[in-house]
Amino acid sequence: MLVSLQEMLQEAEKKNFAIASINTPNQISLRAVIQAAEDTNMPVTINHAQTEEDVVPIEIAVPLMLEYARKSTAPISVHVDHGYDFDHCMKAVRLGCTSIMHDNSRFSLRENIERTRRFVDIVHPLGIGVEAELGAMPNNMPSEVHGQETSDLSDLSVYFTNPNEAEIFCRESGCDVLTVSFGTVHGMYAGEPNLDIELVKKIRAKAGNVALGMHGGSGTPFNQIQAAIDAGIRKINYFTAIDTAPAPYLAKTISEATNPVNFCHLANQAMEIIYEKTVEILTVFKNEKKF
Ligand code: 13P
Repeated sequence: MLVSLQEMLQEAEKKNFAIASINTPNQISLRAVIQAAEDTNMPVTINHAQTEEDVVPIEIAVPLMLEYARKSTAPISVHVDHGYDFDHCMKAVRLGCTSIMHDNSRFSLRENIERTRRFVDIVHPLGIGVEAELGAMPNNMPSEVHGQETSDLSDLSVYFTNPNEAEIFCRESGCDVLTVSFGTVHGMYAGEPNLDIELVKKIRAKAGNVALGMHGGSGTPFNQIQAAIDAGIRKINYFTAIDTAPAPYLAKTISEATNPVNFCHLANQAMEIIYEKTVEILTVFKNEKKF
């Protein structure tokens, strides 16, 4: 069922878990993630990232995502991940997305607040949830795509969110989720992940009613993910570990095949692997069993 992000966040706060936020840029991942959400009884935001426009344009992705979300027995929000441009985010509004990350983290604090506030004022009356970001998410991805360029990872603390700025941002921007930077990276980690959980607690104490989000979940040890949830993280973006999981298995299937390999069979194999990876991470985010 299509459920608002705001409703999901209330549930997550009550039960001390985190909502998974997973990109579903094709029908295989879409089906696998929705099935995993149903089988674990966990809410999920299924995402289309602006940086995935070259993989699948939003006009093609979102109608399909909405259809699957509406038919699902799990609570699903159809979400935009890292919507950098106002026009792109407005396109998502017209297509029916139920939550949108309008990412203005590259601007100054004041400009980030103003741009977020302007968007919130337009979409909140429509019931659409808004995620914003303060601080920066470094990338460890071999990409030149805007927003995915490889970052200098030598000192992650330079990207961290300032708790005093977070307080001002939460008070003035009107956003529903503030994604904060405290040691995660987009893509896999270059070194040993070491999240600053104390920083999450400090920001949590200043964020009022705004929920906190974490990006770059892939590769984070499960005990550190759960420590972040216990410190107040309520939405976690997780993609690379899921999306890269099928490749080694598919390569093995192809290399061992004695007959031509059907793509539809490879796709189904990939779906099964994505499903299993998603069930695993949803179980961590549920935060009932400790890892
Ligand atoms: P990972 O790919 O590192 O899990 O990060 C996903 C993400 O944060 C998307 O915005």
